Amino acid sequence: MNEHAWKDVDHYLTHLLVKPDAELKGVLRASEEAGLPPIEVTAAQGKLLMLLVKLSGARRVLEIGTLGGYSSVWMARGLPEGGTLITLEALPKHAEAAKSNIRHTDVAGRIEVRLGPAVESLALMVSEGVKAFDLVFIDADKVNNAKYLEWSMMLTKPGSLIVCDNVVRGGHIIDEDSRDDAVVGTRAFLDELASDPRLEATAIQTVGDKGWDGFAIARVK
Ligand code: SAH
Ligand code: DHB
Ligand code: MG
Repeated sequence: MNEHAWKDVDHYLTHLLVKPDAELKGVLRASEEAGLPPIEVTAAQGKLLMLLVKLSGARRVLEIGTLGGYSSVWMARGLPEGGTLITLEALPKHAEAAKSNIRHTDVAGRIEVRLGPAVESLALMVSEGVKAFDLVFIDADKVNNAKYLEWSMMLTKPGSLIVCDNVVRGGHIIDEDSRDDAVVGTRAFLDELASDPRLEATAIQTVGDKGWDGFAIARVK
C-alpha cells in the first residue's frame, strides 16, 4: 500500500460515510480562494472531531488554530443548543477568512473567532476566569504545543478532552535529534502528556488524504 491508495480509500470512506455537504465544501472552496494553505483536517477527521464533541457531551469547545474555520464548523455541529466554540487565530488574513466562511454556515451563532497569538488569548481567558472547556483541539504552531497543553490544563476540568493534531508528521516524530521546531515542540508536548499525572492519554496514527500523521487524545482525570 502507498500514499496513493491511502487517498483512494479515504475518498471512498468519505463519500460513503462522511458526506461533507455543500456548506462544508463551501468553507474549503472559500479558504482556497482566499489563498489559505490547504492544511485543514480531512473530512473524515472533521467528522471524528464532531463525534468526539457529541460523545463527550461537550458544551464548551476551545480550538487553538482556526485557519479558514473548517474544523471549527465540524466541531460546532456537534454542540448542543446553547453550546459555544471559541477558536484562536494569530493571522488577521486567516481570522477574517474564517469569520466570513463561518458567517455562511448554520453554526455561525455558536462560533467566536479570536484574533491574536494563542498564548495571549489563553492567558487572558485564564486571568478572566472563564468557565472551563469540555474539549480543547490543539492545531496551531506545533512549536508551542507544550505551552498550549499547559494553558489547556488551566482551562479544563476533570472529564475534559484534549485532542492534538499532527503528532506523527510522516514518522518524523521519533527523530529525537530533530532540528525541526515542529517535531521538537510536539515531542515536548507528548513528553508532558506522558508525565502529567492529571492526564490519561493515547495517540493514534492515521493515513489518508493528508498522508501519514496522527492525533493525540487525552482525558483530564
Ligand atoms: N484547525 C484548522 C487548521 C489550522 S492550521 C482546520 O483543521 O481547519 C494552523 C493555524 O494556526 C493557521 O491558521 C495558523 O495561522 C495558526 N497559528 C499559527 N501560529 C499561531 C499562534 N501562535 N497563535 C494562534 N494561531 C496560530
Ligand atoms: C501543517 C499544520 C497542520 O495543522 C496540519 O494539519 C498539516 C500541516 C503545517 O503547518 O504544515
Ligand atoms: Mg492540523
